[in-house]
Amino acid sequence: MALPSRVKIVEVSPRDGLQNEKEFVPTDIKVELVNRLAAAGFPNVEAASFVSPKWVPQMADGAEVMARIDRRPGTIYSVLTPNMKGFEGALTAGADEIVIFGAASEAFSQKNINCSIAESIARFEPVVQAARAAGIRVRGSISCALGCPYQGEVPVEAVVDVAQRYLAMQVDEIDVADTIGVGTPKRVREVMTAVTRVADPARISGHFHDTYGQALANILAALETGISIFHTSVAGLGGCPYAKGATGNVATEDVLYMLRGLDIDTGVDFDAVVDIGQWMSAHLNRKGSSRAGNAIAAKRAA
Ligand code: HMG
Ligand code: MG
Repeated sequence: MALPSRVKIVEVSPRDGLQNEKEFVPTDIKVELVNRLAAAGFPNVEAASFVSPKWVPQMADGAEVMARIDRRPGTIYSVLTPNMKGFEGALTAGADEIVIFGAASEAFSQKNINCSIAESIARFEPVVQAARAAGIRVRGSISCALGCPYQGEVPVEAVVDVAQRYLAMQVDEIDVADTIGVGTPKRVREVMTAVTRVADPARISGHFHDTYGQALANILAALETGISIFHTSVAGLGGCPYAKGATGNVATEDVLYMLRGLDIDTGVDFDAVVDIGQWMSAHLNRKGSSRAGNAIAAKRAA
């Protein structure tokens, strides 16, 4: 299949990128990160989570982040909402998009949101209805679509089943997420092909963690199956506190570099993103994991 000429990048570093950081990242830094990403041209920035602060203390200041960011017209600011309490927070915060997050693995569903897949779907239904009634976009994330840290193999049918439940609720977008970065291109092709049989590829996104160094190859495989929305995180930040062994999301800089080489447009200012990655890594007091970002920064310094 011909590759798309344009790809939408959802920048998830303010949420997925920071949620696993041990030291609390000051709200000022989170606000600046969201603002800089929006200014760099990302059409969609995942800005916060409205989850239990006991479960994810790093995301406890979501309401404040949302209240303090500059809202760029046209940018979609998304927040995670596991239940109605989260949705109420999102509504008050004026989120443009909410993200319900279920899993294709029972074991991970229990660990991450403390309920079975069926219970999670029942919990999401009123959330999605309320969001639709309020005119808020809805994205449905499917964790462990390529493998689970607790259960191992995840059948393709389990991913398709959750996708179909989301479609029945009329979500706008569906994320196929490799939470622990174990997928390889062949499996990505199988899963994406199966999901695109039931859902329009234009509504499906790939969310790849890079734990095993497969994420860029997996994005290319997904592009070849007609997927044109990807989630990335500046400096490769990220990880889920309830996914044992998971490391960061694929680095935004690396994805932008690859897409540029493929003549695929994103509308994002690559140089600005390299700056953001270096700034954020300096704040966290460590070198970021983006190969392209670090290479450009080294070249600039030479
Ligand atoms: P629970 O303990 O079963 O919930 O947790 P509960 O309804 O019994 O409530 C317990 C307490 O939490 C109560 O407070 C509630 O008020 C409070 P208490 O009375 O004890 O003081 N509470 C909330 N507070 C704020 N906002 C809320 C909320 N809901 C309840 N929305 C729950 C169930 C879902 C809340 C919990 O398990 C949770 O918050 N989980 C979130 C875990 C999480 O955020 N994980 C990371 C994000 S997912 C991810 O990273 C994967 C993704 O990137 C894709 C991929 O890579 O796979 C998206
Ligand atoms: Mg993730």
